[in-house]
Amino acid sequence: MMKEMVLYSSSEEQTRQLARRFASLLRGGEIVFLRGPIGAGKTVFVKGVAQALGMKSSPTSASFSLMKRYQKGKTTLFHIDLFRLTEGEVFNLGFEEMLEDEKSIILAEWPDPLAHILPADRLEMDFALDGADKRRITLRAGGAVSRVLAEELCR
Ligand SMILES: Nc1ncnc2c1ncn2[C@@H]1O[C@H](COP(=O)(O)OP(=O)(O)OP(=O)(O)O)[C@@H](O)[C@H]1O
Ligand SMILES: [Mg+2]
Repeated sequence: MMKEMVLYSSSEEQTRQLARRFASLLRGGEIVFLRGPIGAGKTVFVKGVAQALGMKSSPTSASFSLMKRYQKGKTTLFHIDLFRLTEGEVFNLGFEEMLEDEKSIILAEWPDPLAHILPADRLEMDFALDGADKRRITLRAGGAVSRVLAEELCR
């Protein structure tokens, strides 16, 4: 059985702080699936990671608003949001290209349509509302890379 780890945040600032710590653990090649309801804090977390890495958003094609690309030096971070899309709708949109550079960091909100496109070694982060500004974040690792990441984050 996959081991679960749980983290708590009691404010947006605390989620940003968690994102900064998370960013410091990244080596490249990590994939994160962020789940949870609207307003749970997934985007706050992703933006916090990109900011902590000192990354600038770099333009992707105008039609491709499902994917934001952040760049710093040789490191690329993809922020994906597939709200309300289905696997059939994202098929053939070229998401596999993200995998060409094995050091790319991929953070995906509403990631279900990518479940079969991306490798299984990914960190699942489930954000749950836990009253007002409280959030409960459950981590599940799908392989060796994401397991190390989760363990370091929870340390
Ligand atoms: N502990 C917390 N962590 C993160 N955000 C919080 C927290 N407490 C309150 N908030 C607020 O919750 C909202 C989170 O918004 P955010 O856009 O990150 O949600 P989301 O999970 O990306 O939703 P969506 O599914 O619509 O993309 C923000 O308005 C933020 O200020
Ligand atoms: Mg969001």
